[in-house]
Amino acid sequence: MAIRNIREYGDELLTKKCKEVTEVTPRIKDLIEDMLETMYEANGVGLAAPQVGILKRIVVIDVTGAESYILINPRIVESSGEQVGVEGCLSLPDRHGIVARPNYVKCVALDVNMKPVEVEGTELLARAICHELDHLDGHMYVEKMEGELRDNGVEYEDEK
Ligand code: NI
Repeated sequence: MAIRNIREYGDELLTKKCKEVTEVTPRIKDLIEDMLETMYEANGVGLAAPQVGILKRIVVIDVTGAESYILINPRIVESSGEQVGVEGCLSLPDRHGIVARPNYVKCVALDVNMKPVEVEGTELLARAICHELDHLDGHMYVEKMEGELRDNGVEYEDEK
């Protein structure tokens, strides 16, 4: 396993649409292992393959530190409610923004054995699923944010 370099906002690759995965090759297994390691090392709750320079529809998510999800070719099939809150991205270090997302989503995907899996979540998990899936279509949270990009470590009135 290895830590991979995380592409930062402004990198053209982060604006590209990713391709579906048709087969989990040993190379893709390595990529997934590296994505998990890279996400944990950076203290992130999710990472999408384009963030490490690979234009494939793969994301990893772990919002609790206790359960990681590996989602291949993921799609959101149900969503409801709304949450408005702070969101950040490993491709935009030391910044965050306020973003509205559904409060509940259900996602279908394939696991590393190309078997169908279903993940549903609320709150942070729902937010992470939406955020990571956006990366696969070349989108970042800054496009959806309310107001300006904010600096981490600064106290904002509306976040108290
Ligand atoms: Ni991100």
